[in-house]
Amino acid sequence: MSADPVTVMKQQVGKAAADRVKSGSIVGLGTGSTTAYAIQYIGERLASGDLTDIKGVPTSFQATVLAKEYGIPLTTLDEIDHMDVAIDGADEVDPDKQLIKGGGAAHTREKIVDSLADEFIIVVDSSKLVDKLGTTFLLPVEVIPMAVTPVMRAIEALGGQPTLRMGVKKAGPVVTDEGNLVVDVKFESGIDQPAELEKVLNNIPGVLENGLFINVADTVLIGEIIDGQPAVREM
Ligand code: 5RP
Repeated sequence: MSADPVTVMKQQVGKAAADRVKSGSIVGLGTGSTTAYAIQYIGERLASGDLTDIKGVPTSFQATVLAKEYGIPLTTLDEIDHMDVAIDGADEVDPDKQLIKGGGAAHTREKIVDSLADEFIIVVDSSKLVDKLGTTFLLPVEVIPMAVTPVMRAIEALGGQPTLRMGVKKAGPVVTDEGNLVVDVKFESGIDQPAELEKVLNNIPGVLENGLFINVADTVLIGEIIDGQPAVREM
């Protein structure tokens, strides 16, 4: 195997999810490096004629660009009455299929799209599996810019340590596709009650959405390397 193992796992799991898409489907298109492979393979299946009559609902600017690059026709939530499936990545997955998302700052649109799909398929490499949420990844919270300071204070009062996410190759903070900012929150011993925390955080004035996805994932596909060979299993 010449490519790096994480890339191979992401490719394989992305392909496995794309293989589950049926002709005639409306598909939520997630964000991130793993979902990018799913979008690529859906496009390749369309180009080969293996798949027909697909419409995609993108969860971000990135997903929109990739879908156009791979020839996937797009639609919006205004034009459809259901979505058959959504495919998206995650930053952490716990044994109950609860998730942290938002590594790409797209979790608000992702939560809207992913939670509306009949089936939400998560695609991850095995490094994303955790026993407890919040232990390997900070929790992203999207905040309306004028509320950043009071929101960070409110998060501190809840026991979190918030950091404003800064841009890479861009001076200043990361600005989301919705024009907001992202605060990444560390909880010292992880997140004890994720379902409750999801609601408490979203109740702080100025918070648009946080990256806890509770009872949203239906299927979790995990890419792994076993005896040097790539494999995909369902959780
Ligand atoms: C973007 C996300 C991504 O799905 C998540 O960060 C996983 O990304 P990757 O597949 O690149 O590891 O939630 O907001």
